[in-house]
Amino acid sequence: MLEGKTVLLVITGGIAAYKSIELIRLLQTNNAIVVPVMTKSALQFIKPLSVAAIAGSKVYTELFDLTAEAEMGHIELSRSADIILVAPASASFLSKMAQGGCDDLASTLLLATDKPVFVAPSMNVRMWHHPATQRNLNAINDDGIITIGPNEGGMACGEFGLGRMSEPSEIVAFLNSYFKQGPLLGKRIIVTSGTTHEMIDPVRYIANRSSGEQGSAIASALADLGANVIFITGPSTAPIPANVELTKVRSGREMHKAVLAQLPADVAIFVAAVSDWCIDHVSEQKIKKNSNGPPVLKFNENPDILRDVGNLKDDRPSLVIGFAAETEDLYKNAETKFKKKGCDWIIANDVSATTGYMGGDENKICLISAKQTEDWPLMSKKSVAKKLAAKICTALEV
Ligand SMILES: Cc1cc2nc3c(=O)[nH]c(=O)nc-3n(C[C@H](O)[C@H](O)[C@H](O)COP(=O)(O)O)c2cc1C
Repeated sequence: MLEGKTVLLVITGGIAAYKSIELIRLLQTNNAIVVPVMTKSALQFIKPLSVAAIAGSKVYTELFDLTAEAEMGHIELSRSADIILVAPASASFLSKMAQGGCDDLASTLLLATDKPVFVAPSMNVRMWHHPATQRNLNAINDDGIITIGPNEGGMACGEFGLGRMSEPSEIVAFLNSYFKQGPLLGKRIIVTSGTTHEMIDPVRYIANRSSGEQGSAIASALADLGANVIFITGPSTAPIPANVELTKVRSGREMHKAVLAQLPADVAIFVAAVSDWCIDHVSEQKIKKNSNGPPVLKFNENPDILRDVGNLKDDRPSLVIGFAAETEDLYKNAETKFKKKGCDWIIANDVSATTGYMGGDENKICLISAKQTEDWPLMSKKSVAKKLAAKICTALEV
């Protein structure tokens, strides 16, 4: 995890330098400390004042700077960080790194460091595919430098292809997974979250009041313990945890497909409030009011994700956990669900009027397994998530 880590961020002269501001913000949101270094060319693309203000740190630019050397010499600067991240990494800078060139502060730091170095290349598609660039990349990878991206997509120059810098969120997720540690390291865990939208016509849908807060909290707690979390979420108002592999879906059918595509996994936790039904025939155009009165909607059953995964012959996760939101007869309904779905645990939660239906920061749950029924006291959703993550560790004997 990036928490408490110092990142020496080297910004080189590429068009994606403008994304550095968002990258700094995201690194800080992940509790990292950012110390920026800019090449001369980078100064043509963004102002050091903006970088310094966002980073809350001096921006280092010059190798021959008496004041900077007196405060912190370039060797010390290269060693004081936990990692060095070059983003964006220009083709020219990659070439310099491959040669071991050190004629400015940024390249000298990279030659002097003993810390892990990551590069996020960013350049025109032809520059990326050029044999010289690929040769340089192979050379720096052989030196132990880790490459993040690039992505395929439209470019500032109007061309399309590989060479776009990875998004700041992807860079941060990559770094987070690099630094992951904890008892769940190496475990692949699927978590579904949020509601689903079952379309009626292009502008109307049926949904429920699930906020996605509990699913996000569970995904985050598991990732904090080192798990590789595959977070499959329907529409949600909750924040997406930073250190998970994200898949966004809309309908119950899409979620079903996305979950099956992510198997095998060690654990699957189905927190999402998936609609039991979808509309039989989704109108291609907005349904208009007319004199025949309101439309009559015909429903079909959505595929049952929990039952399908719980009953898999091959690739069944060793722990399959379902959520049961009930407005009445909590225990009876949850136990019936437990017996029908082939899962290992059901987490029943009371979403009756007395608890305010769905939403809110707290949850009162009851965990049902083949062995026992455990009532947990009313807790914050984050505490429920932490307690559940600890129980999963025990069940996996890690
Ligand atoms: C408008 C403009 C945009 C540029 N964008 C990129 C780019 O995205 N990637 C890249 O490798 N070079 C790009 N260049 C070229 C670099 O800025 C140039 O090679 C420079 O010497 C890199 O210096 P540095 O690696 O020391 O920062 C661009 C140049 C200009 C004028």
